[in-house]
Amino acid sequence: MNQTIELLTSHRSERSYLDKPIAEDVLTSIIEAAHLAPTSVNSQQVSLIVIRDAHRRARIAELAGGQPWVAQAPVFITVVLDMHKTRLGIEMSGKQQIAHQSIESLISGSTDVGIALGALMTAARSHGLGVVPIGGIRNNPKAMIELLQLPELTFPVAGLVIGYVDIPAQQKPRLPLNSFCHEEYYHCEVLSEAIEQYNKTLMEHWQHIDRNDGSNWSVNTANYYQNIYYPAVLSAIQQQGFKLDK
Ligand SMILES: Cc1cc2nc3c(=O)[nH]c(=O)nc-3n(C[C@H](O)[C@H](O)[C@H](O)COP(=O)(O)O)c2cc1C
Repeated sequence: MNQTIELLTSHRSERSYLDKPIAEDVLTSIIEAAHLAPTSVNSQQVSLIVIRDAHRRARIAELAGGQPWVAQAPVFITVVLDMHKTRLGIEMSGKQQIAHQSIESLISGSTDVGIALGALMTAARSHGLGVVPIGGIRNNPKAMIELLQLPELTFPVAGLVIGYVDIPAQQKPRLPLNSFCHEEYYHCEVLSEAIEQYNKTLMEHWQHIDRNDGSNWSVNTANYYQNIYYPAVLSAIQQQGFKLDK
């Protein structure tokens, strides 16, 4: 196994951090990894907001529904879907942007955000840092938008905690590979057995790490997906100028 594959396959979300700063050159190299990542049609419709200020991190921890690791680690990066920048560029050529009215743009923009997030995570972990992505910033998106002074046609899709790890996490097992990667076409028939197997594996994982509050994958996913996960997103994204009627 080469070092890159080793790094990627040893991923775990870390939720315990030391109060230890990250050197400026290390952080710059992490940001550069995301800056040079691919983007749809070279739109570069992603921006990062780096938050180091302890009070602001504490506020984000609270806005994200109470996530202490956001306040604990020295750096929080918000990854923003940015069609403000593209609109400006388009207007500078005397034309008009309408793409932000479409669901397609949200898919394309969120894909680019995910790619940037992945690059940040890999780069950070290559420096021996720990990470955890934070979708919790969509819990109260209007307050996040205000805190970061985000202009029209931008949206804070996800954030990333970066820091030196205090108590390391155990790697979490995944669903069997055959339910993730399909040969030639989608094999519905493998799913039930794979899920049943994984429900057991995940319970064994919780037992192994002495977590008696853990549930199996079916129940855990239901806890989130039997409701609308972050219901304030639609009105906040509309308020930011994304009409989404096309
Ligand atoms: C887009 C995204 C958003 C996430 N949001 C949160 C979050 O708000 N808080 C948190 O503690 N973990 C969050 N996670 C981490 C997941 O819970 C974690 O990836 C999953 O449980 C698998 O565990 P692992 O990353 O340790 O393998 C998020 C992950 C992703 C990819």
